[in-house]
Amino acid sequence: MNGKDKKLFTPGPLGTAPSVKEAMLRDLGSRDIEFINLVKRIRSKVLDVAGVCPSEYTCIPIQGSGTYAVESVFQTAVSKQGGKALILANGAYGKRMAKICEVIGIPHHIEVFSEDSKVRVETVEGILKGDKSFTLVGIVHCETSSGVFNPVEDVGQVVKKYIPDVSYFVDAMSSFGAVPLDFKEGGVDYMVSSANKCLEGVPGFSYVIAKLDKLLKCKGNSRSLSLDAYDQYINLEQSSQFRFTPPTHTMLAFNQALKVFEEAGGLAGRAKRYKDNRSILREGMRKLGFKEFLDSSHEGYIITSYRFPNDPNFDFKEFYSRLNEKDQVIYPGKVLNADCFRIGNIGYLFPEDMQHLLKCIEEVCRNMNIHLPIQN
Ligand SMILES: Cc1ncc(COP(=O)(O)O)c(C=O)c1O
Repeated sequence: MNGKDKKLFTPGPLGTAPSVKEAMLRDLGSRDIEFINLVKRIRSKVLDVAGVCPSEYTCIPIQGSGTYAVESVFQTAVSKQGGKALILANGAYGKRMAKICEVIGIPHHIEVFSEDSKVRVETVEGILKGDKSFTLVGIVHCETSSGVFNPVEDVGQVVKKYIPDVSYFVDAMSSFGAVPLDFKEGGVDYMVSSANKCLEGVPGFSYVIAKLDKLLKCKGNSRSLSLDAYDQYINLEQSSQFRFTPPTHTMLAFNQALKVFEEAGGLAGRAKRYKDNRSILREGMRKLGFKEFLDSSHEGYIITSYRFPNDPNFDFKEFYSRLNEKDQVIYPGKVLNADCFRIGNIGYLFPEDMQHLLKCIEEVCRNMNIHLPIQN
């Protein structure tokens, strides 16, 4: 192997198990029966992780990163005639949904909530009481820019109460497989995630879980050829083939990642490891004096935003580089109203990795003459 793995405490790309990387070390043709069966297995296992039934839902892999799957849902689920989206945004990824609508030309309303709090169900109810013309409502499950978890099931219930036929779309990119999501309770019609998030495959493809009765009405909606999830679904069902070159190596890795996931206790096992990571980080950072962006009632365990310390010697670029030299990769902030950096707990990270990161952060602070514990 060339070089050494870095520890990625980021929202992605994320670290992966050695066996997942090893699974990629072979070539396989797209028409090989082994590959065809592998794709079928992956599609079915993803539905198992979601806890939904194959007679009601389907899984559609989409080549490309997570944004490709998000965009493919807007392309596919929103009709060119009379389609209109309501986007509930409390961070960068909610806003990206609105950007997608803008670029494609989908009429939409974006309701912007504060970045440090959840999407408010009462506000959504107020909007829907006044306007029932929406055909799709989009929300992010874990808003990865801050780490906040949105009450997607509660919002879904209100959405379906006011507009029963609407398509309810949850971007569960950074939460799927580690944070429970009840499709039935929330009336979820579309969900997206990607290979290299909590299921810990390597990056390269994303996937849509779609409710079949909704999806089957979407023929001809897409303004894009490659992002048409309906067409992708039809091809996979009818010929067991992707329409365009499939990510064969990435799917081999993902198949192994799903095996690792099951052996480690499925969603409950993954949630426990990430929660343990989060507790160690939270406690250690608190001792060093770092302040979280979200208040203490925040229960998210995917990623944490920390405010820049109020110390004249703190410089994020230098802090980042010094940690990087120690093979510890953290991430810049993505909230707009505060200077923050982020530390993720997801991917192939374990409690001992969190402890080692804390040791490195302490060393770097001392080397930068940042007074500890930080006084904010
Ligand atoms: C909630 C959410 N949505 C969308 C995306 C975009 O995914 P990608 O960067 O893989 O395109 C991300 C990325 O982290 C995310 O966390």
